[in-house]
Amino acid sequence: MADVSLRDIYKSFGQNEVIHGISCDIHDGEFIVILGPSGCGKSTVLRMIAGLEVISKGDIAIDGRVVNQLEPADRDIAMVFQNYALYPHMTVFKNMAYGLKIRRMPKAEIEKRVQRAAEILELTEFLDRKPRQLSGGQRQRVAMGRCIVREPKVFLFDEPLSNLDAKLRVQMRLELRNLHETLGITSVYVTHDQVEAMTLGDRLIIMENGYVEQIGSPLEVYEEPATLFVAGFIGSPAMNFFEARTSRDGQSIKLSGTESLPIHPQLEQGFCDKAVVLGIRPEHFNLAQEDGGALQMQVDHLETLGADTLVHGKLGEDNTLFTLRLPDIQRYPKGSSLSLSVSPERLHLFNKESEKRIGA
Ligand SMILES: Nc1ncnc2c1ncn2[C@@H]1O[C@H](COP(=O)(O)OP(=O)(O)O)[C@@H](O)[C@H]1O
Ligand SMILES: [Mg+2]
Repeated sequence: MADVSLRDIYKSFGQNEVIHGISCDIHDGEFIVILGPSGCGKSTVLRMIAGLEVISKGDIAIDGRVVNQLEPADRDIAMVFQNYALYPHMTVFKNMAYGLKIRRMPKAEIEKRVQRAAEILELTEFLDRKPRQLSGGQRQRVAMGRCIVREPKVFLFDEPLSNLDAKLRVQMRLELRNLHETLGITSVYVTHDQVEAMTLGDRLIIMENGYVEQIGSPLEVYEEPATLFVAGFIGSPAMNFFEARTSRDGQSIKLSGTESLPIHPQLEQGFCDKAVVLGIRPEHFNLAQEDGGALQMQVDHLETLGADTLVHGKLGEDNTLFTLRLPDIQRYPKGSSLSLSVSPERLHLFNKESEKRIGA
């Protein structure tokens, strides 16, 4: 068990700086997910923690000890990759035991650790099988087993589920979370999949272009996204964005061609009478009685998903395209008009220039 501390980490490949100063204190036993689009630098950060990439600037400490100069093998970490290659000619037992054997661990201890890992992963009855005699999910569990037997201080995962089909991914996600609850080993998990991140992580580090956009619990990043990027990245369908203007008294906001919407709480002076970006999640519109809502939507088309319906349409003078999500099956003809309201605390305001969140 260990805490991991990233202290203003930079990474350049030649002249090209790809990580521009990342700091985060990962607590002992925490499950941290690094989330961001492809190419934003997630794997590079993970590989620096593992010792597979040299850190250009900054320090990484495990349990308070700076490990920048330590070889990967001396860092007491275990890493699971997307392409977890098992040895095809070895049994499940031998695949799991191999890493311990080359470390010259006594046979009895190896036996004990593999048996225990197999039990946790429900692989006991497959210990004599070869990888090709296993399902995809079982193979993934063997790859996990290889890491568990080492009893590392820290687990690192780099998109370990992205080669599995959708159903298996959901199942493995639950298994990973259960496993974490059983073992309690500090884990850093990289993914571009926001659902995976939201369901697995105690906290998320959301990255874009080599910068950290926000660090927070799944609920925090959903309820109070710190930047426009995070707001658009977390949540599916994505948050809607509108050009809008705050009122002089800082108590409401207006899209051109709609009525004002009260905001909460009142804005500071600096943000009054200003053009801002207004964000509203598809799931946060309410249907108003008659024409009582502040927003009148022109319906374009519907996607009926069964449990809920996505309604796509236009709003305001600018005919901004947006989506709302309503429970159950809804039927509205194209061109019909819906009157909508939104609770003040569901409105997200962003500075147009800095793209940072305004207010709470
Ligand atoms: N060995 C390398 N040499 C040069 N550039 C690299 C190398 N590894 C990664 N990069 C670059 O660093 C950036 C981040 O890559 P990576 O960490 O793999 O992103 P992610 O894992 O988020 O998809 C990308 O622009 C990538 O091209
Ligand atoms: Mg990657």
